[in-house]
Order: sequence, then structure tokens, then C-alpha cells
Amino acid sequence: MKALVLAGGTGSRLRPITHTAAKQLVPVANKPVLFYGIESLVAAGVTEIGIVVGDTAEEIRAAVGDGARFGAEVTYLRQERPLGLAHAVLVAREWLGDDDFVMYLGDNFVVGGISGLVADFREHRPEAGILLTKVSDPTVFGVAELAADGGVLSLQEKPSQPRSDLALVGVYLFTPAVHEAVRAIEPSDRGELEITDALQWLLDHDHAVQATVVTGYWKDTGNVLDMLEVNRSVLDTLDGTVAGSVDAESQLVGRVRVEEGARVERSRIVGPAVIGAGSVVRDSYIGPSTSVAGGCLIEGSEVEFSIVLDGCRIDRAGRIEGSLLGRTVHVTGAPRAPRAHRLVLGDHSRVHLTT
Ligand code: DAU
Repeated sequence: MKALVLAGGTGSRLRPITHTAAKQLVPVANKPVLFYGIESLVAAGVTEIGIVVGDTAEEIRAAVGDGARFGAEVTYLRQERPLGLAHAVLVAREWLGDDDFVMYLGDNFVVGGISGLVADFREHRPEAGILLTKVSDPTVFGVAELAADGGVLSLQEKPSQPRSDLALVGVYLFTPAVHEAVRAIEPSDRGELEITDALQWLLDHDHAVQATVVTGYWKDTGNVLDMLEVNRSVLDTLDGTVAGSVDAESQLVGRVRVEEGARVERSRIVGPAVIGAGSVVRDSYIGPSTSVAGGCLIEGSEVEFSIVLDGCRIDRAGRIEGSLLGRTVHVTGAPRAPRAHRLVLGDHSRVHLTT
């Protein structure tokens, strides 16, 4: 069995963080979301991985490399334009050969991995396997309608009037039967070859499509609270380790990971929390469910339930909570200044001020 991981697309979506990078590289607990996907494929015993790349190919290649560090063998497959998920299968046709494969959307996160699902597919081998999850707004997903016995009745892509609240999660299991389906379908109204339509084609041609409903699913929709929540759930599984240095006046409580070259001085950190490589936390408090990426300086401040990306500087900033700071953001307190906010914010920033 092989895996086809989709990390193409234009990378141009205007979301708080992803407009600076490929959306598959958005970090969760200091690790790109794409890496969790690759790791869960390897954990499921799938190590031959083809990664579909587009405009952001260089960024993806630089992050993933040849796959050896994951125990995988990675082949890059170039998709010249993002013409749809089923188009990506067409692009990969030759590489896939006649193997069964898992198709994994690189910006999706399935908590708890996919090992059980892959094992189940291998055992029963329907023509296709899909994962579904309940969502509050099905109009932005592929949607499945199920019969009382759990059989799949129909599939729609981003319907304005969804027939259910069960969304297609971006992990699909296929036998080579899918190749005929992706060749047979036409582009949708948005001009893409939809994998949802290929699945509907399989259903229409009496092929078995088996659905499994899962919980613990996340993708970046630009909702900061969702992102903080998935970060929290991953931090909850963290082991506390100290590879950097923690001075005698500091205190680590619970599971705290202090990465290589990071320094904690005169500070208190309550886990689960991670302090990234080379970051310095000085005279500060870091509270639970916080990820601080690499090369940051946090001084004389309190940060809790937040994500702080690489190279940030937080200096005498008071208390920061429930926040997402992009790369190289500087937040500085100015206690003696008149009561005015001085802001230099990037495009699409959002700020909540305590006034
Ligand atoms: O995330 C789950 C949803 O993914 C499903 O519910 C939908 O049925 C499915 O169509 C898909 O919807 P999106 O519109 O959200 O997919 P998106 O365009 O964001 O692409 C998903 C991933 O695939 C993303 O990592 C980019 C990559 N991609 C996308 C396209 C269109 C490619 O590699 N090539 C492409 O041509």
C-alpha cells in the first residue's frame, strides 16, 4: 500500500498565519501539521509516500526532505496547477501503479492517527474507504448522506443545502478502481476535478464505499480558537524533557519540554508547554497549553494558552492569553507612555485590546 499526500495548492489563502507559508506547514505544538500526517501513515505501516506539490514545492521539500527522518521514502510529484483532488490522483497515476493507496490531505489533522482505519481497509478491502466527522458548518466541506445501516447514499461537495452534518475528512482509502472514476468525471462549478465526484461515480457504478465516522479532527479554517484547541490536545500527549537549560531559580511544573539551546531563567512554566530550540524565557510565567517556537525571547511577561511562532519577542507585555502570534512578532510593554496603543500590525492581523 502507498500513500498520496496532497501538499499542493497555491498557498495564497488569507488566513492569520498561512499567508506566510504553505498551509500544510502550519505548526501544531511546534511541528508542521503535515508531519503528523506523515507520521501517522508510517505508524500505519505505509512508508512509500508520494507528495503532490505545487507553488510551494520548495518550502515543502525543504521541510520534509527525502522522508528518511520519518522512516519513509518520499517521492515528489509536481502538479502544475491546483486543478482538484481528483486531478492530483491523475497526476500521480504512473507512480501509484496498481497499488491500493491512502490519500491524505496535508492540511488535515486526525487526532489518534489512522492505523486502525488502514488495518480495517486492508482486511475488508472495499473499493474505497472514507472518514466522516460531524461539523457545525457542512457547507464548506464534502458532505455524506448515510443510510440507517451506515451505508453511503450520496456525496456532495460544499453543498449550499447539506443533506447531513457529516463532513468528509481529508483521508481516503482507495483501490485502483478510483483511477477509472477520476478519468470519468468532469470539472465542478469551481473548475476542479473533485474527489467527492469520483466517490459518487464509484457509488453510481455499484462499487463499495465504506464510511467510518471519527472524532478528533481538525483543519485550519482560520479559526484561532480551533487552532489553540488542537494545539492543546497535542500538548496533552507531550512528554516533559529538558534538552536546554533551566536555572535554579526557575520552576517547571507538569510536562514541560525545553528544546535544545533554550534557556529558562528565573521563570515558572506550568505544562503542558513547549519552549522551542534557542528560545529564552526570562523573569516570566508560561502557563498551560502554550507552544513557544524557536528563537523567541520572552521577558518579564506572562503567556498562557497561546501559540507563539518563531523569532517573537515579548517584552514586559503583561499577560497574554488565548493568542496566536505569527513569526517575528514583537510585543513590548510601554508602562510610562501615555495611555495609547502603538501598533505595527501585518496584513490580516486581529488584536483584542483590554481597554
Ligand atoms: O479538508 C477536507 C475537505 O477537503 C473535504 O471535506 C472536501 O470534500 C475536499 O474537497 C477538500 O476540500 P477543500 O476545498 O478544503 O480542499 P483544499 O482545496 O483546501 O485542498 C486540500 C489539500 O489538498 C490542501 O493541502 C491542498 C491540496 N491540493 C488541493 C488542490 C485543489 C492539492 O495538492 N492539489 C489541488 O489541486
